[in-house]
Amino acid sequence: MKIGVLKEIKDNEKRVAITPSVISKIKKLGFEIYVEKDLGIEASLYDELYSTSGAEICSKEEIYNCDLLLKINKPTSEEINKLRNSQTLISFFSPSLNPELLELCKRDNINILSMDSVPRISRAQKMDALSSMANVAGSRAVIEAAHCYGRFFGGQITAAGKINPAKILIIGAGVAGLSAIGTASSLGAIVKAFDTRPEVKEQVESLGAQFLTVSIDEDGSSKDGYAKVMSKEFIDAEMKLFAEQAKDVDVIITTALIPGKEAPKLITREMVEMMKPGSVIVDLASQQGGNCELCKKDQIVDHNGVKIIGFTDLPSRLPSQSSELYANNLFHILDELTPHKDGKIMIDMNDDVIRGMTIVKDGEITYPPPKVEVSVTSKPKEDKKVKESPKIPSKRKSSIIPGVLALSLLFLVGAFAPASFMNHFTVFVLSCFIGYMVIWNVTASLHTPLMSVTNAVSSIIIIGAITQVSTNDTLSLILSGLAIFIASINIFGGFAVTKRMLGMFKK
Ligand code: NAI
Repeated sequence: MKIGVLKEIKDNEKRVAITPSVISKIKKLGFEIYVEKDLGIEASLYDELYSTSGAEICSKEEIYNCDLLLKINKPTSEEINKLRNSQTLISFFSPSLNPELLELCKRDNINILSMDSVPRISRAQKMDALSSMANVAGSRAVIEAAHCYGRFFGGQITAAGKINPAKILIIGAGVAGLSAIGTASSLGAIVKAFDTRPEVKEQVESLGAQFLTVSIDEDGSSKDGYAKVMSKEFIDAEMKLFAEQAKDVDVIITTALIPGKEAPKLITREMVEMMKPGSVIVDLASQQGGNCELCKKDQIVDHNGVKIIGFTDLPSRLPSQSSELYANNLFHILDELTPHKDGKIMIDMNDDVIRGMTIVKDGEITYPPPKVEVSVTSKPKEDKKVKESPKIPSKRKSSIIPGVLALSLLFLVGAFAPASFMNHFTVFVLSCFIGYMVIWNVTASLHTPLMSVTNAVSSIIIIGAITQVSTNDTLSLILSGLAIFIASINIFGGFAVTKRMLGMFKK
């Protein structure tokens, strides 16, 4: 099958769907790749790089003859009109906002897989281009803010005086918000963040920011991986918090959004007027109307010295990085679409991810797909009443009863079993007890490194092999040599893996 990569025609778009780095991987799936001339010129990806990676450079007309077309932005009606029967296109599409384009594709029997319809489930993370782009946008938002803010973000003590660090408030700690927190913290700013989903608190804190809360007890999590619309009381309470923060912070970055809905207005004109002149607001939700009342799409508004940035092309402002991430997402989708690695795609409607993305197939509009629930939802809240209730002693009672039973059993066995058995048995019971106490007191997130270290320690059997290795019997010698070799791999490998895993928990 021939894959064609189209050059983006949207104004100021510098990204490209495929980078040279993934071409060889895509070819291994059995495809031939054709890219439009000067495809990646704006992202410093020149034609020579593509041809040395194994792609054919050709004209737009030739690309339109390919079986599968790849691009980033939604196709225009002119682009769709150039496609022919049973071709497949993969790109962003926003199907809910473009019903007329859907109808055109249905009319012309063009299969469409929409990059913005990848379900937010763990398995699909590697294919989720919305998250990849939000990650880039969040980081770039901080850089845009730093560019407009007339001071350092980090604090310093200099001969000329003390420089205070900038204070940054991030509203919405989803993909873009967390990326913004990471970038702002690494530039040395004091970062605070707010989100309607309390479960992001740990992630916010692990990136070095303070998590702000309101007194209203309402959880913004939903089952599709996105947030839900909050009650008016909650929005009022958070806006009160933002009004207090507006007086204090130098930069606000807003990313609060529920897909398919207009962005909630969280930063009012009054709040902007409370901010110090020179402060900056970056509104990532500007595409959907903006979180700030004064935001204007793709513009920088100056209101009493406070700059409000409403750019909607933040990923395109880091074109090489965004293109690489998008290309990797596309590669994983192609991998999923090619189960036999024979260069032929199979749009399998039983596959949750492919089903979610497929919005037109065989002349039928298949959007919206059935709902897919994310595997990780917020933990059910602990019922405080249960905690305080007198049922706790009965729980203790329930753990005492098996203890008493086990002890009686031990005495019973001791009364009849030989002394040598009892010695081993007591050691065995004590080891079980110690093992239980050690493992149960390790937090769940550390269980994987714990397993790898236990695996390494289990290679203590190496001692047995070492004691046997000096034997005169050739077979025992070979076997113990082999045992020492294999157990050594287990020991060194186990500790190396544990070290790497523990490294992931360090800030
Ligand atoms: P996300 O769904 O991962 O995160 C949005 C976060 O906002 C969620 O954590 C949600 O709980 C939170 N939120 C929703 N309502 C809230 C409220 N009332 N108060 C506080 N928090 C609230 O979305 P993601 O991927 O992080 O994207 C964030 C925004 O950035 C979206 O609007 C997206 O369209 C936009 N975006 C903008 C780009 C640009 O160039 N301007 C590029 C990429 C994304």
